[in-house]
Amino acid sequence: MRLEFLEWRWYKMNFEEQRPRDWSLLFEIQLVVTKNSLFFFDTNAVQVNIYQDEDEWKWNNIGDPILHIELRRWADIMVICPLDANTLAKIANGLCDNLLTCIVRAWDQKKPLLFAPAMNTLMWEHVITKKQIETLTGFGYIEIPCVAKKLACADVGMGAMASVETIVEKIVEYIAVLQHGHSEGAETKTEVKESLET
Ligand SMILES: Cc1cc2nc3c(=O)[nH]c(=O)nc-3n(C[C@H](O)[C@H](O)[C@H](O)COP(=O)(O)O)c2cc1C
Repeated sequence: MRLEFLEWRWYKMNFEEQRPRDWSLLFEIQLVVTKNSLFFFDTNAVQVNIYQDEDEWKWNNIGDPILHIELRRWADIMVICPLDANTLAKIANGLCDNLLTCIVRAWDQKKPLLFAPAMNTLMWEHVITKKQIETLTGFGYIEIPCVAKKLACADVGMGAMASVETIVEKIVEYIAVLQHGHSEGAETKTEVKESLET
């Protein structure tokens, strides 16, 4: 996700007259998917660039852009949602065997990386999950905690991904901090939230 600084300033100036509901005015999004995640959604229903593992391997010669490096340079914020147990384990152990985990491995630690875990309750309650989440927060990544509810597998309990509203709120919080630093960020966050609510 990359912030559009010019557009953001425009948005701030015109805040009273025009409250954009189109979030592409505020930031650009590029979506990186794992092979298995494609099972869960229709790529045609998503109106942003989607990168898959194959796109990484269009590289030919020394000096050609390397996709996972280009994407991490381009992005101001990275958000992994949902973060499943498999990719959590890979990231916690430094593995990088696909485009997504290569971006994470090459991520500039000074930029925010947010993650929203989602998994079956017993996966969540496994002792290794807590250790791996702590490893990620120890890297400085920001957890958007999962919640308890009825899961896709019909189990009821912890492990569901946080609500979209919660995730957006957290992203907005970090955008505001990036734009204005911590104190002014709080004000911007309120403005952005109000624009969503009206
Ligand atoms: C229908 C279905 C739903 C799944 N839901 C989850 C889930 O919510 N969380 C999770 O950690 N794994 C889930 N899995 C297992 C992952 O899809 C599996 O570990 C997969 O290899 C993850 O690949 P990836 O991390 O490369 O995307 C599910 C599998 C299936 C078949």
